[in-house]
Amino acid sequence: MRHARVLLDRDFAIGDTDPRLFGAFVEHLGRCVYGGIYEPGHPTADAQGFRGDVLALIKELGVTIVRYPGGNFVSGYNWEDGVGPLAARPTRLDLAWFSTESNGFGTNEFIDWCRAAHVEPMLAVNLGTRGGDAARNLVEYCNHPGGSSYAELRRAHGYPEPHGVKFWCLGNEMDGPWQMEHKTATEYGRVAAEAAKLMRWVDPSLILAACGSTSRNMPTFGRWDDEVLEHTFELVDFLSLHTYLNNYRGDSAAFLAAPDLMDFFIEEVIAIADAVAARRRSRKRLLLSFDEWNVWYRTRRTRQDRVKEGWPVAPPILEEIYTMEDALAFGGACISLLNHADRVKCACLAQLVNVIAPIMTETGGGAWRQTIFYPFQHMSRHGRGRVLKCQVHSETYAAAYYDPRGSLDQEFPIPAAPYLKLAAVATAGGGLSLFALNRDLGQPMTVSVEARGFADLAVAEALELRHHDLSAVNSRAAPDRVAPQPLERVESDGGKVTLGLAPASWNLITLAPRRGA
Ligand code: AHR
Repeated sequence: MRHARVLLDRDFAIGDTDPRLFGAFVEHLGRCVYGGIYEPGHPTADAQGFRGDVLALIKELGVTIVRYPGGNFVSGYNWEDGVGPLAARPTRLDLAWFSTESNGFGTNEFIDWCRAAHVEPMLAVNLGTRGGDAARNLVEYCNHPGGSSYAELRRAHGYPEPHGVKFWCLGNEMDGPWQMEHKTATEYGRVAAEAAKLMRWVDPSLILAACGSTSRNMPTFGRWDDEVLEHTFELVDFLSLHTYLNNYRGDSAAFLAAPDLMDFFIEEVIAIADAVAARRRSRKRLLLSFDEWNVWYRTRRTRQDRVKEGWPVAPPILEEIYTMEDALAFGGACISLLNHADRVKCACLAQLVNVIAPIMTETGGGAWRQTIFYPFQHMSRHGRGRVLKCQVHSETYAAAYYDPRGSLDQEFPIPAAPYLKLAAVATAGGGLSLFALNRDLGQPMTVSVEARGFADLAVAEALELRHHDLSAVNSRAAPDRVAPQPLERVESDGGKVTLGLAPASWNLITLAPRRGA
């Protein structure tokens, strides 16, 4: 049995969680759009072809903002192909995923879908094969009220009111050689700065995110971010970062320690952004958008994993089936994001449906929740508030994480991963949410939490996600094989909370002031 101790105080906060921290990502990739969120003729589809069963699950998941249309796809996308009468839309080869794009779904359908899903839209512009001109035209099309050719085009397409899209990504993963018209940091910095300038001249209210390093493992990490910010610092609000966790080596302990590398990554990017600010004697503090994050490796490594030959339409690619173990690493990533709520003000789980996703569908059939659905749902539902600084006293272990991303095929040491990874959020009405991951694969853990500055707290809800078989998955036939169960071993008395965590478990505990306290 392991023991851990946590000390927190309601007055000592990291920062408030921004609702945009609970975002997700929809790319024209595989069956994410076609057969995922959009399937005309499906028994649950509405008049526009939006699947009702998927919309219901997205609402249950608690997603707040959705990034679209890519991803790698956006770097070859002509947004004009996806608007206007369906019959006139061209069919194109998508060189990101070697499939055929019908353009049956485009920007206007996405905006309508966001309204139906009750989420904010986030658009990415193509800074690969295109640049500032196409980007500013898209902003005009989406956000300008009328009286100019692109605004009038939108109106002619049946949208008299502007879409009012606030959050825009300046391209995608432009540091990666796999990207269409990949660029050096200087090339991208210049293009991003000019695109930002033009886009803001059309609509000064835009929030803009420049591409930071695709991963901490990129050979250009650090230098890329520094150079891009040299060009864009005054023009953007956010710098983006991406991480996909893996367990290629079958080393579960290292896999569960890997979210700590997200903590390092975030802190390093903050250091770089603040160094750029310091050089300019600027008090501006750039925010971070973790606009792609997840576990992804089984359907990633080889071209056969990612591409189906013959230029198919919406092929079933990147359909990662998530295990119990994946949900644990994923939960660790949720905790890393929460614990940086002061600077990470936006994040997008990549992706949302079918493609490395918490929600799976059968074409023409049902939809179900993957294992990773639950930690995200818990974080989104119960992570709104002030994230507290926590003193976590837990034994640690050393791990070596392997990550083949970029050209560095190497190990990343994690010298001291605490067995307990935890985040605490002070919620409205004097409540407290605890998110706790026991990373010990074999031993249970008791956790004593001293919650200072709170009234006497009573347990409102306590759930654990665990399974004796770490390879257990959910499927159409067994959709609830891995699902949260009540956590029995919780006590709360006068600001002291005691938890009994099972080995290899994700836990959510919410507390509220005891009646009369
Ligand atoms: O999410 C899948 C892909 O991963 C995205 O298209 C790309 O941005 C990243 O490499």
